[in-house]
Amino acid sequence: MIGATLDRIGGCITNFCDVYSKEFNRDSALMQAQRYRLQGLDALSRRVFSLATKIDINGAAVLEVGGGVGALSLELLKAGGAMAVNVELSRSYRDAAAALALEDGLQNRIDLVAADGVEAIGGLGSFDVVVLNRVLCCYHKGKDLLRVSADATDNMLIASYPTIHLLSKGLIAIGNRLNARRGCSVHPFIHSEEELGEPSQRGLVEVHRKARPVWTVRAWTRPAA
Ligand SMILES: C[S@@+](CC[C@H](N)C(=O)[O-])C[C@H]1O[C@@H](n2cnc3c(N)ncnc32)[C@H](O)[C@@H]1O
Repeated sequence: MIGATLDRIGGCITNFCDVYSKEFNRDSALMQAQRYRLQGLDALSRRVFSLATKIDINGAAVLEVGGGVGALSLELLKAGGAMAVNVELSRSYRDAAAALALEDGLQNRIDLVAADGVEAIGGLGSFDVVVLNRVLCCYHKGKDLLRVSADATDNMLIASYPTIHLLSKGLIAIGNRLNARRGCSVHPFIHSEEELGEPSQRGLVEVHRKARPVWTVRAWTRPAA
C-alpha cells in the first residue's frame, strides 16, 4: 500500500455515500477540519492516538475506518507512520481530508477512499494499526464492520463507541426520534456486547478496555503466530 496517493480519489462505490454525504456534509466537514487546524486532536482522539502509538508506529501502515477529515491518520503519519488509508462514506469529509493532507504536505502518504468500509476493506491489504473512532455508532452493521476491520490488522485494532448505560440509551433514543422527524436516515446505533466482541472471534486478543461516562475505548492485538 505504500506510495498511495490522492490520485486514487474517485467516485464512491456505494449508494450509502449519498446518504452519509448528506448527513456528514460540507459544512460539518469544514467545521471539523477547522477545529483540527486550531486545536489539534480532541480528547477522545488523543486517547485513541496514545493507544495506537503504544506499538512501534515507525514505518507503520494505518487504516482509519470512517476517519472523517482524517485527523488521526495525519497525526499517526506525523508520529512516524509510513502511510495511511482513510475509508470514509462521506465525500465531503473525504474532500476536507484531502485539503488537510495537502496543507500538511502528507498527500503522497495518505489514500482517501470514498466507500463503505464493509465493502472496501477486504480489498485494501493488511495494516499495522486499524482505527474506528466514533464510527460503529453511526453504522447499522457494526459486527460486519468490526469483522472486516479485525481481519485487516496484522497488529492492533482500536475502536471507540458510546458507553452503554441507561442514560446513553435514552439520549440515543431521543436523538433517533428527532432524526426520524427531520427525515434523516443516518442515526446512532447501539451494538450488542456480542457484536462488539467480534474481534475476539477473529483471533485478536483484547488488551485494553476503558469505559468513561461518554465513550468506551477498546483495543485488541493479534498474537504472534
Ligand atoms: C461521527 S463521525 C467520526 C469521524 C471521525 N472518525 C472522528 O472521530 O472525528 C463517523 C464517520 O464514520 C463514517 N462512516 C460510518 N460508517 C461507515 C462505513 N461503514 N464505512 C466508512 N465510513 C463510515 C461516516 O461517514 C462519518 O464520517
